[in-house]
Amino acid sequence: MKRIYGTAILLFSISISTAYSADVVDELLQEYKTAGAVDFSEDKGEALWMSKEKDRSCTSCHTNSVKNVGKHQKTGKEIKPMAPSVNAERLTEKKKVKKWLLRNCKWVFKRECTAQEKGDILTWLRKQ
Ligand code: HEC
Repeated sequence: MKRIYGTAILLFSISISTAYSADVVDELLQEYKTAGAVDFSEDKGEALWMSKEKDRSCTSCHTNSVKNVGKHQKTGKEIKPMAPSVNAERLTEKKKVKKWLLRNCKWVFKRECTAQEKGDILTWLRKQ
């Protein structure tokens, strides 16, 4: 009996977390639109992700494929794949996505990304 309860709870939490993961990106895109962004572009998001600023790029740590395990350029620490198709935990936590977009845009571009840029990146990344 206990086991059945356990399984039911497990299935229930899985269904909540998958429903939630789609919502997080949708919510962020809505926020970016409120901040003035217009239609988001997967192509622009990908181009931005692959672009190089001096010797820095999103690919510096996340590698040329978002499906690969990455490596922090400075600390050498392993970074799990960014693509939600191989790492279901990605883009499921709003606070985390915001925090890292802020930090990583600053590191790569020496400035914050605009609402448009962040939306383009997430629109591309969520489909990977
Ligand atoms: C200096 C290394 C480094 C660079 C360069 C970098 N990242 Fe990251 N990124 C990280 C680390 C470390 C984490 C958090 C660790 C983890 O989640 O595995 C992370 C996490 C993220 C996340 C959170 C994803 C989630 O939901 O878990 C996003 C989004 C992200 N990065 C986007 C970018 C973008 C966009 C760029 C380029 C502008 C970029 N990163 C460049 C190191 C980097």
